[in-house]
Amino acid sequence: MKLNKFIVVEGIDGSGKTTICNYIIYLLKCWNINNIIRTHEPGGTILAEKIRNLIKNSYKEFFSYKTELLLLYAARLQLLDNIIKPNIKDYWIISDRYDLSSYAYQIGGRGIQKKDILFLQKFINNNIIPNIVIYLDVNPLIGLQRIKNRNKDRIEKESIKFFTNVRKYYLKIANNNNMIKIIDANNNLSNVKLLVKKILFNFIKS
Ligand code: TMP
Repeated sequence: MKLNKFIVVEGIDGSGKTTICNYIIYLLKCWNINNIIRTHEPGGTILAEKIRNLIKNSYKEFFSYKTELLLLYAARLQLLDNIIKPNIKDYWIISDRYDLSSYAYQIGGRGIQKKDILFLQKFINNNIIPNIVIYLDVNPLIGLQRIKNRNKDRIEKESIKFFTNVRKYYLKIANNNNMIKIIDANNNLSNVKLLVKKILFNFIKS
């Protein structure tokens, strides 16, 4: 029996993370695994959900990138201390986003320095590493097209250039880390699901 079972789904807005999180939970239940906690970032606790709203809203003042960063890490700390750390030994934790998002969005998208992220990781004592990160790689033109009818939040309203930089940073990290599984999510959802199923199955039987 594996000690930790922490699975994270990552990707830019419109990459299909929600569908894939739903699918992972569906698969686990089919395999008779029912001790599952589903969560997302930023959010996942009462306080972290409030911070999520603060982050996503638009304001009539400049939202400093460092304010955004600090709020994201405050939310992450709430989630880690209240949900992830107390439950990781007993539950499968499926999270829509985790710290890879901070690398991609804050370093790649906002231009925050990596050393600042590393400092915050240490400051919040984040020593929990996911077992699998599924990165759904999508061209921002396709991702944004998919969410064009949504009531977009502050970040979703960013430019193609912003999402192109976020994607580049995702790929830069994912290409150098075997634990991150890159899936081409530009088309054919059934193919994406098939690959996710393979990844999960291999993890369970390993
Ligand atoms: P989502 O839940 O719809 O994916 O929205 C979360 C938004 O927050 C999304 O635009 C990405 C952004 N985000 C960051 O910029 N950095 C982070 O570390 C996390 C977790 C999310």
